[in-house]
This record gives sequence, C-alpha cells and structure tokens, in this order.
Amino acid sequence: MSLTILGLSGALSHDPSAALYIDGKLIAAVEEERFVRDKHAKNRMPYESAKFCLEQAGIKPSDVDVVAIPFAPISIFEKARWHYAKRYWYAPDRALDAIFAGNRRYYRYKKRIEWCLQQLGFDLKKVKLQPVEHHLAHASSAYHCSGFTEKTAILGIDGKGEYATTFFGWGENGKIHKIKEFYDPDSLGGLYGAITEFLGFEMLDGEFKVMGMAPYGDAARYDFSRLAKFENGELIINTDYANVIGFRRYKEKGKGYYFSPKLIEWLGPKREGDIADDPYIHYAASMQALFEKLALEMMDYYLGDIIKQTGKIAFAGGCALNVKLNQKIIARDEVKELFVQPASGDAGTAVGAAAYVSHQRGVPVEKMEHVYLGPSYSNEDVIAACVRHPSKPVWQKIDNVPERIAKIMVDGNPVAWFQGRMEFGPRALGGRSILGDARSPLMQKTLNLKVKYRESFRPFAPAVLAEDANRWFQIHCDSPYMLLVADVAERHRIAMTEAQRALFGIDKLNVPRSSIPAVTHVDYSARVQTVHKETNPKFHELISSFKNRTGCPVIVNTSFNVRGEPIVCTPEDAFRCFMGTGIEALAIGNCFLAKERQNPALKQSYESAFELD
Ligand SMILES: [Fe+2]
Repeated sequence: MSLTILGLSGALSHDPSAALYIDGKLIAAVEEERFVRDKHAKNRMPYESAKFCLEQAGIKPSDVDVVAIPFAPISIFEKARWHYAKRYWYAPDRALDAIFAGNRRYYRYKKRIEWCLQQLGFDLKKVKLQPVEHHLAHASSAYHCSGFTEKTAILGIDGKGEYATTFFGWGENGKIHKIKEFYDPDSLGGLYGAITEFLGFEMLDGEFKVMGMAPYGDAARYDFSRLAKFENGELIINTDYANVIGFRRYKEKGKGYYFSPKLIEWLGPKREGDIADDPYIHYAASMQALFEKLALEMMDYYLGDIIKQTGKIAFAGGCALNVKLNQKIIARDEVKELFVQPASGDAGTAVGAAAYVSHQRGVPVEKMEHVYLGPSYSNEDVIAACVRHPSKPVWQKIDNVPERIAKIMVDGNPVAWFQGRMEFGPRALGGRSILGDARSPLMQKTLNLKVKYRESFRPFAPAVLAEDANRWFQIHCDSPYMLLVADVAERHRIAMTEAQRALFGIDKLNVPRSSIPAVTHVDYSARVQTVHKETNPKFHELISSFKNRTGCPVIVNTSFNVRGEPIVCTPEDAFRCFMGTGIEALAIGNCFLAKERQNPALKQSYESAFELD
C-alpha cells in the first residue's frame, strides 16, 4: 500500500515550508520564502510551497494520506510548561498562560494550517493531520535523513519549539528515543540570538554574521561565562541578561530585544552599522566560544557514551548551521561520522515531521542524498520569461555550458548560475549560485560591490571538487551542504608578515592569506562545499573545466540573491536580480545573458568561449 505524507512547517511564525514523501522517497521540499519573495516568510503559511510539492509529484490533495506538522500539544503533566512558568515568574501573565492555556499557540497554528489546507483543496474530514513535537521533527530530520543504520546519537539545538530548546536522544532501527530536553528560557540558541541582536543583527540571519565576525576578535578579552552555565546536567541561562521577555527587555525606538538593559550596562551600547570593530568583534568571539564550550559539554554529558559506541551523530536545529561548532564536533576522535540536516532551521522540520510519521507507519525513509528538491525550469520557460521581462534581456542559446562558463570565469568574470532544481535549505549549492574565481584577490570586493552588498568582513564560501577537497583543505570527510568549516591546507597558505599579523580586526581583510584568497577567512578557515558528480553533474563539470584551465579545483560559490532577499527561485526572479545588480553574466539553463555594454572585456571573453569546441 502506498503512503503519501505532506510535511508542513511554519508553526513558529517564520520559515514555513513544505516537503512531500511518497513511499519513503523525498519527492520535493521547498521554503515558502522563495515563492513569496519575503525572507523567512514571517507570519505566513506554507501555501505556495505545498502547492508546488503536489504539482511536482503530479498528485491531488485527495492523494495525500497524512499531513504532518512539526508542532504538538504539550501535556500539563510534562515538566516543560512548569519549567517555563517557574523561570518566567517575573512575567506572571506569561507564566500563568503556560499552566492554564499552555497549548494556545498549537491550536492557533492548527487552525491556520487547516485554513491553508482548505485553500489548497484538501477535505479536512478525509486527510489526517498529525502533530509531531517540534524537537522530534528536528531529530527525525537529522537521524532519519542520515541514512545511518547503526545506533546514532541525536542532538537538537534551536531557539525553541513548543517549550523545548535542546534535545538529546538516540536512534536505532528507525526509532527515536528521547534522553533529555531543556526548556525555555534555558536556550543556547536563544542566547546566541539575543547577543546577535545586541551586535546589531537580526535574529535568524544575523547568527551567521556573528560567527563570521568572531575570528576577528579575541575571546579571552571578555569573560562571557556569567551568561550561561551547564551544571549537574542542566543548562541555565542568566535571565538577568538574556532570553528575557516583558519588562526585562531592553527597548529602543519602540522595539523590544531579547536582552536586558543590564547587558547594556555591562557591555556598553548596542552595535550599529556594518563595520566589525572593537569591542564588538571580541564580544562575537566570546559568544562563539561560550556557545561551542557549552554545546560540547552538553553533548558529552548526554551523548558521550552513545557516540563512543558507534561514532555516529546526527544534528539539527538552527544551531546546527553553526559550522564552527560542527568543525569541533567532527574533530573529536570518537566521532566517526556527523550528519547535519542541510535545512537545520525550522524549514527542515517539514521534512522531519513527514519522515517521522512515515517511520511510525512502517515505511522507512531513504537517506537524503542531496538538496535539489525545489522547482526547475525548461529552456522554453527561460526564453518565455526573457520575452516577458520589461527590459527585454538579450539571450543566446549555448551548448557545452559548463566548459564555456568556466572559460568566462577564468577571465575574471563572476557568473550567475541558474541550473536544475532549486536547493532546499539556506545555502545555494550550485543550483541558484553566483560563482567566481577563488584565486582572484579582488573577487571578494568585486562580488560585494556588484551584487551582494553585504558586510565586508564576511568571507565567501568555496565549492571544491569532492575528489580534490583534502588537497586544498584540511578536511577528511564530505561536506556537500557547506555545513563544515575546514582550514585551507598549509601548502596553499601565504604566511603573514609580523607587520600584517599586528594589523587589527578588519584591517587584516586586505592581507592575502592563501592562493585562494576570495574564500579564505582571517583565521584561514573556509566554509567548504564538496561537489559530487553523482548529485550535481553539471556543477561538477563546470569546476572540472575550471580546474583543467587553471589547475585549481576551487571556485567561489555564493547565493544568487541580493542582501535581504531570498535566493532566486524562478527565471523571472533571476532576471530581476541580474538586471538590478552589477552582475554581468548569467547562465540560465542553456541560455546565456551578458551586459556587454557595461563590460566590453566580457564580450571578448564570451565570444572566445563560444568559439571553443
Ligand atoms: Fe526549531
């Protein structure tokens, strides 16, 4: 008997998404933000994403057996609600709410999902709606998608779900066992988010920026240990400073933050602007160091024994996107294999909830082999979109796309690359990417000026042929989702002079650090994507062609979008982004577009590329 499960996330008013499993096979998964063009699609339901999943599979709403949602009612007999009430004693309205109406949020969400399903044409009397606890959904998205067959330690760290913020468990024979959970406000993810706000960035996105800023600072300068401790198996956040609600919040221009005025008294004013400066770089370093220390202590305490047995660990929740922590986990001797769910944020809980229900119903899900699970478009779609676009972009059809585009890149031109199905999860991995020559010392600046407009202290990430990865980076495993960070191999580094070493913070940016400076961070680290022939042959071929011409199997890979916007989804989005920015070359399917008037050298470059045979 066939089993069709639609997973829908969006319970926590951000990152709604949809995922579809048919008989254990992941047919489609996509975030709502890509369709509605609104980053994180806050306060929306996964309407367009669910519609896409059904279309991709060619099925009707009546073909869906179960709709799985990653948010569930929490019983009053569980510790979660009582813990919340006790820790939020200073906000009695919220504390009492947790006791007397502790599932209000669930019922509100359920109503909205039902409304969304009705709009999609579902008959609510026929389809079964099955709630899965938020952290079980994260856990499932890691464990069930890992393909691990042996006993596996499962770690989940995020801001919060219903009440839980952290999950420790193990998986065996497809079943997930819970060992321990921590509850709001005792949230390591929440603390990182609160300090992210203090450092002048937004929660949900800014955490990456704090992590990127940290290597410029010195964690030893400020002791952050007062913010949180892990003692006797419990995580305790100091809510005098962070993870606060109500009157304890620091307020500025009518906006409330998750940190308190007391934090400002201690550390000074909240950071403004785009510069990585003193003392904030040191604060970022201290936060990252505290985060790593506590996460590893907690992992050892609850999962150490299980990890020692088989060496397998599966990790999800927003904090699993912290690649620096992942680097520390994989560096442990006892860890043999780490699977991090590529969509570790809440978007991934649509996959997790659906996978969980599939297992519950006796249909194991397959290993998640790649993230190319979104929509794709034909050359005819692309041409039609060109014709419809008001500025009537001129396109030419080309063959041997990887080889010709590689040649254009070797000439120093960044290229927007739109091929195949869109990626699921926050990273562009060669489906909707902007690519460039990693050897160019100017590439980082060029990309920032032309298209990304992002903070200059943030490095770009490399995509490297999987077979060459360990010759260019200190990495001994695959990192297909850019979820591991590795140092550039010694032989490709350029040693800094004493004078360069003495440069402070951001000034170090201008010092070439390796033969691939565009992707080498100030501490020689790089957020690596290993590119595999089996999962993205066209992208692999492009980098191979680049290597044939240069000897270098590494290119810059950054997402195809501008700051503040979601990654492009359709050809129309691609044109809008392309035309509205300084990027001059676009390879979309078999079509090539160039702004040769802006860059006459580009014309020469692509003309010679098109002559190649
Ligand atoms: Fe979550």
